[in-house]
Amino acid sequence: MATISSNAALKRVLLQACLNSSKCTTVPAKTIATLCPEDGVFTGPSMKTEVPGPKSKEKIAALSKYKRTEQMHMIGDFEKSKGNYFVDVDGNVYLDVFQQISSLPLGYNHHALAETAKSPAVQNGLLNRSAQGFCPDKDMLERMENTLMKVAPKGTIAQQMMCGSCANENALKAAFMRYNAIRRGCYEPTELELETCMQGKGPGSPEDLCILSFTSGFHGRTLGTLAVSHSKALHKFDMPAWPWPVAPFPKLKYPLEEHVEENQEEEMRCLDQMNRVIKESNERGLYVAGVIVEPLQSEGGDNHASANFFAGVQAIAKQYNAAFIVDEVQTGGGCSGKWWMHETWNLPSPPDMVTFAKKMLIGGFYFSEEFMPKHTMRIFNTWIGDPVRAAMLETVINVVESDGLLQRTQKSGAAILQNLYELQKLYPDLIFDARGVGNLCAVSCENTEIRNNLVAHLRGLGLQIHGCGDFAVRFRPALIFTEKHAALSADIFDTALSTLRQKMRSKV
Ligand SMILES: Cc1ncc(COP(=O)(O)O)c(C=O)c1O
Repeated sequence: MATISSNAALKRVLLQACLNSSKCTTVPAKTIATLCPEDGVFTGPSMKTEVPGPKSKEKIAALSKYKRTEQMHMIGDFEKSKGNYFVDVDGNVYLDVFQQISSLPLGYNHHALAETAKSPAVQNGLLNRSAQGFCPDKDMLERMENTLMKVAPKGTIAQQMMCGSCANENALKAAFMRYNAIRRGCYEPTELELETCMQGKGPGSPEDLCILSFTSGFHGRTLGTLAVSHSKALHKFDMPAWPWPVAPFPKLKYPLEEHVEENQEEEMRCLDQMNRVIKESNERGLYVAGVIVEPLQSEGGDNHASANFFAGVQAIAKQYNAAFIVDEVQTGGGCSGKWWMHETWNLPSPPDMVTFAKKMLIGGFYFSEEFMPKHTMRIFNTWIGDPVRAAMLETVINVVESDGLLQRTQKSGAAILQNLYELQKLYPDLIFDARGVGNLCAVSCENTEIRNNLVAHLRGLGLQIHGCGDFAVRFRPALIFTEKHAALSADIFDTALSTLRQKMRSKV
């Protein structure tokens, strides 16, 4: 394999020895990666125990007194983690391509962020957290202009909220407010509306408004966002939800460039269906005030769609006067190789709203002027963002620009994808459908059991990675990830896949 290092056979033997023993040797990482400044002393994974190791297990067992812990991978030692490398309490060092659910833009303990953490702005924000809607700090305007507004999609204004769910929840509210104002003919509510909303009844609480979402989409875990999420039943059961319309998200064939015609047909089918679903809903008297969609369905399994599809979604939403809301919580902040993945679509006009969180450090949404609330405190909470995170975000944006991290992400993402193409040729029985945009790359497995086994093997070898949907394994590295880290990940994949194959064959 051209891009996977030439000493892969040697590494495979060593790594396999490592995999077979519960007390692991150190992966010979120095042979495969040269020093990367952000990574400090780390040049590759180094595994000392199985995963989770005994100290992690002990702490997880203790924590289980207070919370569910089955989903925990291991316990972190964040002080020791650096750059692309995550260290656990057992001293295992992982190359981290998941980065705390895709939420660390510059990896662990980045020197510029460490400096910012000592700055008066951060100290002040830590000691005196402001209720930003009432008493913002004197620097708020400047900070907004240097952060969220600096990377704002064209023609939009930024609204800070808290997490990704909170961002989406409030974008849905903004869509309802604007739609109802248009059909009422003014922004002022009637006496009857003011009275009935207090009882949760129409017309004040309109029972005839809804949001259209897509199959397999995920937009959060609050009640409103759960109503538009369809990735896992586990998230949804027991929760009251509105029977709002859902349109099919395309199921494309990969690689996309080899299935252009079939994929176009599939996308046309979904767009037709979307149009029909909205039309029927409106005719039934359940009016679609907004359409929410992810640029790449992440939690749902890394499902892609083309720029044409999204342009179609935008056009249909516009036709029905519904807000076009793009959920960039997982795709935003540079990991697509642009600040916002929707920028790769060349839409005729920007989306009405773009939501963000994770790598942007602050949750919130961008909106066009039309969605500016016409009454005070309609989109509001105690903190509305976080001045500490805003100061950190300013540094993140500066580092992304000064270090050319969007360009780096384009290159490292292309390398991850190329490696996955090569690996799927070698292991077609185990992985297929390599796909990616920027460093948002993924591959699928035949079934969930193989996927889970593969993730466990990768983690055991020191690649901190995670699945999505029922069958996929996804990369969500930091923006400091390089082509060298991509090659190292590919070597670990190679070893994990060959071990998994041997284990599966020996079972038959
Ligand atoms: C696309 C998308 N939207 C919304 C959310 C919810 O964000 P949070 O977990 O910050 O509430 C997520 C979280 O993974 C997400 O991937």
